[in-house]
Amino acid sequence: MEKEINEEKQGTSLVLEQKAENSKKLFIESYGCAMNFSDSEIVASILTEQGYNTTQNLEEADLVLVNTCSIRDKAEQTIRKRLEKYNAVKRSINPSMKVGVLGCMAERLKDQFLEQEKIVDMVVGPDAYKDLPNLLKEVEEGRDAINVILSKEETYGDVAPVRLNSNGVNAFVSITRGCDNMCTFCVVPFTRGRERSREPQSIMEEIQDLWAKGYKEVCLLGQNVDSYLWYGGGLKKDFDKATEMQKATAVDFAQLLEMCAIHFPKMRFRFSTSNPQDMHEEVLHVIAKYPNVCNYIHLPVQSGSTRILKEMNRQHTREEYMALIDNIKRIIPDCSISQDMIAGFPTETEEDHQDTLSLMEYVEYDFGYMFAYSERPGTLAARKMDDDVPEEVKKSRLQEIVDLQQKLSEKRTARFLGETVEVLIEKESKKSDAHWSGRISENVVTVFPKENYKVGDFVLVKVTDCTTATLIGEAVGFSEMQSN
Ligand code: SAH
Ligand code: F3S
Repeated sequence: MEKEINEEKQGTSLVLEQKAENSKKLFIESYGCAMNFSDSEIVASILTEQGYNTTQNLEEADLVLVNTCSIRDKAEQTIRKRLEKYNAVKRSINPSMKVGVLGCMAERLKDQFLEQEKIVDMVVGPDAYKDLPNLLKEVEEGRDAINVILSKEETYGDVAPVRLNSNGVNAFVSITRGCDNMCTFCVVPFTRGRERSREPQSIMEEIQDLWAKGYKEVCLLGQNVDSYLWYGGGLKKDFDKATEMQKATAVDFAQLLEMCAIHFPKMRFRFSTSNPQDMHEEVLHVIAKYPNVCNYIHLPVQSGSTRILKEMNRQHTREEYMALIDNIKRIIPDCSISQDMIAGFPTETEEDHQDTLSLMEYVEYDFGYMFAYSERPGTLAARKMDDDVPEEVKKSRLQEIVDLQQKLSEKRTARFLGETVEVLIEKESKKSDAHWSGRISENVVTVFPKENYKVGDFVLVKVTDCTTATLIGEAVGFSEMQSN
């Protein structure tokens, strides 16, 4: 299943087309959310202009960059381990290698990194990648370099990212950066700064370029896509101060999504992530109206207890969330819905936990991404609340949530048995080289015998069998989305 926290992709290094005139070697690997993977493509694009070609071999790299995640303590521990590995390679094989830390951990720890981790030569926050050429000059001259300034404007709209080109079918296009929501458990508002939206024109140009290169599905990306608002530049929170003209010509998320659906009728669109408080009904009508906008909403809730939601500073109650779910199901029948859930937030009681389980039963989520609460330094929860739910209680509640989700997923997947679904082929099935694997609009992975179809085709598949999260079937022909 494809989502920001894709375990399979964690730590993969990025390799791009080689430029013959470039002599320096860059090893760049990414951890965390889809935004980080997308940012690494922007970084690689900037460094291609600085004489670097990418390599997958750490031992021959002149420059090693690691794009980091701070969302939970475990994510940061993984990065520390990677730094140890770089250190070992530097000491034994490659003494001239330079190491740079990018992304959220760079932003959170700033110059502490240079002091704590002797291996690190350069620290660059998520809004400072355009400064990389200057920072690298410093490093090459033997000085440590740091830029962790967060920006009010930077959206990298003018940097054409170079693509990982893994399958040439799916791509992420970032539309907003930062987050203003200040959920009390979350480090993102501190590491990625204030929320700003990217100019629609540059988004459309990037999608046009992807279409020309044969891509078939785009996922519009942001920490809170529903909050997208373009009114000529500037922070979301400054919209009040915009002129009447700016307000009248502003583009919101529903309008952006509709523009995409109309301009690129043979391309599929997804988006991630939605926030319940910012999701408006217009978006639901756009999803319902356009067959190329996928029937899938990732709608993190974090808890089913109104009291805990309030402590988390989520701007809605359990009942308001349920009303939104009712609306989704009314406007987009059969829409897939997935959740993010946190077990063991401070003060969570057994009763709160039971509220979470009953909410899950109510929604009948198709998928879920579930975590034990991890206290993050600097967040409001860390400053104001005791991390008072014992580890073993967190663990057992998390397990109950995971088990229930498994049961719900099984039931939801089975609803497609006997149906004919539209699959966009992404790659060969992991289990069999005689089968293709792709996803349906509702985001369920589907496998079927290859016949003469190829990667990037839209195929109608009759579903004959299924597992918990995968449909199995046989192709019956191309769908209307297929363009020849
Ligand atoms: N709006 C963002 C959320 C990013 S964090 C997005 O684009 O998805 C992804 C998920 O990590 C959150 O929804 C939450 O469930 C989880 N998470 C965030 N902070 C956490 C913490 N301190 N402990 C445990 N899980 C956390
Ligand atoms: Fe984090 Fe809440 Fe924003 S989870 S990314 S502060 S919506």
